[in-house]
Amino acid sequence: MASLGVNVDHVATVRQARGGSYPDPVEAALACQRSGADSIVAHLREDRRHIQDEDIHELKKKLTIRLNLEMSIHPSVVSVALEARPDQATLVPERRQEKTTEAGLDVLREKKSLQEVTEKLKAKNITVSYFVDPVLEHIDTAKDCGADAVEIHTGAYANATAKGEIEKRLNEIEAAVSHALSKDLIAHVGHGLDYQNVVPLANMGGITEFNIGFSIIGRSIFVGLEEAVKEMRLKIRSGA
Ligand code: PXP
Repeated sequence: MASLGVNVDHVATVRQARGGSYPDPVEAALACQRSGADSIVAHLREDRRHIQDEDIHELKKKLTIRLNLEMSIHPSVVSVALEARPDQATLVPERRQEKTTEAGLDVLREKKSLQEVTEKLKAKNITVSYFVDPVLEHIDTAKDCGADAVEIHTGAYANATAKGEIEKRLNEIEAAVSHALSKDLIAHVGHGLDYQNVVPLANMGGITEFNIGFSIIGRSIFVGLEEAVKEMRLKIRSGA
């Protein structure tokens, strides 16, 4: 059965707006855990704009479900990962000015550095996933670099509005998922998924993990975090 990873960065963004300790993303993660989330995603950005180093250590200490650390290969972030030892690391590209991650990794250009970081993470028993666009060559390169899994970037699909474009993007994701599986990679998906657009993916098959943040935290304002997580979990499990 496909699992749901809930991204709690957006809780940290609210906390950072006032510079205090509330609302606490770790407390939010524990609420997600109580509601049936299978893992927690937290992105430690180079500029530390939301999640802080201490959050990662606390999440690792307090969660009984898996911690998936989203991270670039910047040395200051890699050192936190090696120390905190999350269950999984999802390698993502990072640009300072971006509002959120905008594209998959440039695996062809960064191959050597990605490979080096992957080796270090795997030596600490951390499962390594690469966030990639649905491009078959990128999936091949992720495999060559030693990745265990790929997270297929669903942003272009999520942003599509015309029927034909939505179908085209879904087909790309489907081809990417089946290519990943043929290479013995685990297939994850994430970015821009909400309570509607997740449904066709929930029915696709072959996807092991859905990583979702913004829509769940947004919905939690109206129905509470536990309910928002439960509703998404049901969507993924029922495909309806
Ligand atoms: N997966 C990855 C690799 C991401 O970068 C993000 C955004 O931090 C997500 C999943 C979650 O995206 P969203 O917040 O749009 O659901």
